Amino acid sequence: MILGLLKEYGTENRVALLPEAVQSLVALKAEVLVEQKAGESAFATDADYAEVGAKVHSRSEIFQKADVLLQIQPPSADDLKTLKKSQVWISAFNPLWETGLVKTFLESEVTTFSLDSIPRTSRAQAMDILSSMATVAGYKAVLEAALRLPTFFPMFMTAAGTIRPANVLILGAGVAGLQAVATARKLGAQVYVFDVRAAVKEEVQSLGGRFVEVEGATEDKAAGGYAVEQTEEYKQKQQQAIDEQAIKSHVVICTAQIPGRKAPLLVSTETVEKMKPGSVIVDLAASSGGNCELTKNNETISHKGVTIIGESNYPAQMSIDASRMFGKNVLNFVKLIIGEDGSLNLNFEDEIVKGTCITHQGEVYNERVKSVIENIK
Ligand code: NAI
Repeated sequence: MILGLLKEYGTENRVALLPEAVQSLVALKAEVLVEQKAGESAFATDADYAEVGAKVHSRSEIFQKADVLLQIQPPSADDLKTLKKSQVWISAFNPLWETGLVKTFLESEVTTFSLDSIPRTSRAQAMDILSSMATVAGYKAVLEAALRLPTFFPMFMTAAGTIRPANVLILGAGVAGLQAVATARKLGAQVYVFDVRAAVKEEVQSLGGRFVEVEGATEDKAAGGYAVEQTEEYKQKQQQAIDEQAIKSHVVICTAQIPGRKAPLLVSTETVEKMKPGSVIVDLAASSGGNCELTKNNETISHKGVTIIGESNYPAQMSIDASRMFGKNVLNFVKLIIGEDGSLNLNFEDEIVKGTCITHQGEVYNERVKSVIENIK
């Protein structure tokens, strides 16, 4: 297998494989071609890649020679024109939302894998880029809020009086939310948490957070550990409980999501207007509409003294460790599609390979993406 590692564009500072992951791939008998300066923003030089056995080439040479093309971001319009039917494209392109791109792949008959579609099973855990990136985002969101907040996070007893600890409200206790609980607790804040899945209560408590219960949530075991849409009655009850808690909070970290859907709206404009001036909301769900009504994707705004941050790529701000985690996940996935002699070996009997495959020979393989595409035909 000739694997081409591409350089990301725009403000993306990560790279899909650091030299350490490339070294492991070379040991698996893969030939690795790296685009010039691919690792620059993650502080890995072309020489570092060459040292572990990769060959450094231009993007066009890589598109000519590689069997498998790898980058984090979706392909550009130029990439789509250059990709050949015989090639395999691996990145994270959000196929449940980006249905137009899925259709383009279907027409070009390229084989594509979207790493954000790795099933959330225990066997696939070591390949789960969403968990890795959400871990970075949960951590960074709290640090950003702490830096912007005009008050301390921890309690202080000083000669100038006692400083009360900050109240932090976390909406959604999945991967990002739990990381946010842990980080906010380490900084000394009091942490309150909402989630529709009662199963997370113990985890929240074990990290030192207080779980605020709203009765009557709908749960579905078939959703594989993910949340499902809630009834109108529940939404109203939850809205009231969040409103009461948000008014007492200095920081709100929004992480609630239902995969493939618009993010649930949990913090209304009215609630924001009742919050303390100087408070900070970090909305990690910004790219799928946000949990806060006022969030603007990739913008920071101020509304009646409340700062609302809609940054949707925190991992790009922690390029080394985010690339390290992403690369390790990719490496574990590539192990499933590489034969003992280093050749490309696509085994669709493997549920992880099939579940992560979005298109192959003009057909949609991932079941959820397939039903979304069929519904919009
Ligand atoms: P996850 O699926 O593990 O967790 C989401 C949690 O929200 C679940 O525990 C779910 O039960 C809960 N939830 C769903 N509906 C809810 C509701 N109505 N009320 C309360 N809780 C509710 O997701 P993960 O991986 O933690 O990601 C969280 C968000 O962070 C996603 O929107 C994701 O796209 C985003 N993200 C943002 C990044 C950034 O840099 N801004 C980077 C990585 C992820």
